[in-house]
Amino acid sequence: MKKLLIFLLFPFFTHAQTPKETPHWRPNYHFSSQKNWINDPNGLVYYQGKYHLFFQHNPFENKWGHMSWGHAVSTNLVDWEHLPLAIPEDSVWIFSGSVVVDKNNSSGFQTGIEPCMVALYTADYHDGKKEAQYLAYSNDKGTTWTKYTGNPVIDLQMADFRDPHVIWHEKTSQWVMSVVFPKEFKVIFYTSKNLKNWTRSGEFGNQGEMRKIWECPALVEMPIDGNPQNTKWLLFVSTNGVHDKFEGMQYFVGEFDGTTFKNNNPPETKLYVDYGKDFYAAIPYTDAPKNQKILLGWMSSWQYADAVPTFPWKGQMAIPRNITLRSTPQGLRLFQEPILTLKPKKDYLIFEKNNFVLSKEKQLSGMNLFANNSYMVEIEFKLKSAKDFGLKIAQKKDEKDNEKTLQETIVGYDVNSHQLYIDRKKSGQIIKDNFASIEKAFLKFEDKTLKLKVLVDKLSVEVFANDGQIAMTSLIFPDEKANIFSLFTIKGKVKVVSMKITDLSK
Ligand code: FRU
Repeated sequence: MKKLLIFLLFPFFTHAQTPKETPHWRPNYHFSSQKNWINDPNGLVYYQGKYHLFFQHNPFENKWGHMSWGHAVSTNLVDWEHLPLAIPEDSVWIFSGSVVVDKNNSSGFQTGIEPCMVALYTADYHDGKKEAQYLAYSNDKGTTWTKYTGNPVIDLQMADFRDPHVIWHEKTSQWVMSVVFPKEFKVIFYTSKNLKNWTRSGEFGNQGEMRKIWECPALVEMPIDGNPQNTKWLLFVSTNGVHDKFEGMQYFVGEFDGTTFKNNNPPETKLYVDYGKDFYAAIPYTDAPKNQKILLGWMSSWQYADAVPTFPWKGQMAIPRNITLRSTPQGLRLFQEPILTLKPKKDYLIFEKNNFVLSKEKQLSGMNLFANNSYMVEIEFKLKSAKDFGLKIAQKKDEKDNEKTLQETIVGYDVNSHQLYIDRKKSGQIIKDNFASIEKAFLKFEDKTLKLKVLVDKLSVEVFANDGQIAMTSLIFPDEKANIFSLFTIKGKVKVVSMKITDLSK
């Protein structure tokens, strides 16, 4: 009898343990894994017409663990083809790292006529005692990888030593690796002629943002104001972001002579990449066409990544960004614009409306455009008397009382404090205590014009302001039926010079 009871109840118990699938939160035009956990992008490299995206992946579970490298490719950075697991765990976990195409076969690993790909990554011994740098190579465009028998290529017998990012340094004709001592707030530089033997050449650190450990460094040479004859180096470091206790990214602007980095700003200067809470571990693409600089990051935060309620996947990438370095009155600054190469698809519905004055909240209804919470709004505001204005996304109203808003995410601008903000306090499911918040970025502008590009994709909102001067990324978890879109203004008027909304649902 007891046996029979267990038998009858078994399916009930096992079923109760499997979370419900959440297709209504599956991003349409952002990369997410088909199944199971992902975090950092790894090995971003463009080769023979394809953007490769490797990523931190748990192939077995919807939580962090069994770290391995997943793999996907894309020709346009919007549509991704999922490929089999690239580098699986073995006795060590395969932590973050980078990939280069070894065009001159400096490593000697090439077997056919095509150059091979070489990955440098951190092997984490998952005993808390050691991390070392390993190498693997691929002679079939990143599909299968051979782990180098001479691993580790760098081993300092240290517990925390990770995230190698490798570039080819043209001027000194050598490979350069940036890698971190996370708890010492240091980026260490190594050089190599063959990707196998590395010599320590310099270090940089103990400046800028240091509230949290340093991870995922990346060096990139950037033309100033688009002039390739006049360049500076950017050094990206993932660490604490603008918001206390939350991860984010900072960058340093300076010189790199092939051995070490020199900051051009005073050590206390802190420059942040994104003003939301969900942009981390981004690295640039290597060898992108036309010398374009493309930054891709993980769209989540270690503060609550495990509580993200999506199933059967957990984790997604932010939209790839075209980055530039521009002169501003405050100095050289990073600008970021989303790359959204839309497929020539006739039925992308576009709604346009120009030159109108808004004096109260206005719901844009009568359109199916917002039904899927997957669209882009390009809008230009001209300040008038309003104290606060902007967009309300993924709204849900009380069925009985349309005046009562149950859910909404606000993308607004507070005129008095000159702050652009995303308010997700009522955005839907609050996945952890520290999730409900308002993220703010100081943004002053000339000629009273605020231009926003707002990307909504099911569980995320990304805001790019005034040609990419400010970027803000936030996850949200609205109800499936929270799909009203409104423009709002508080205490006065604002002019909408132009507004274009593109439906990006598939
Ligand atoms: C950053 C990070 C890296 C590490 C990886 C492990 O998010 O902590 O430092 O290599 O994730 O998954």
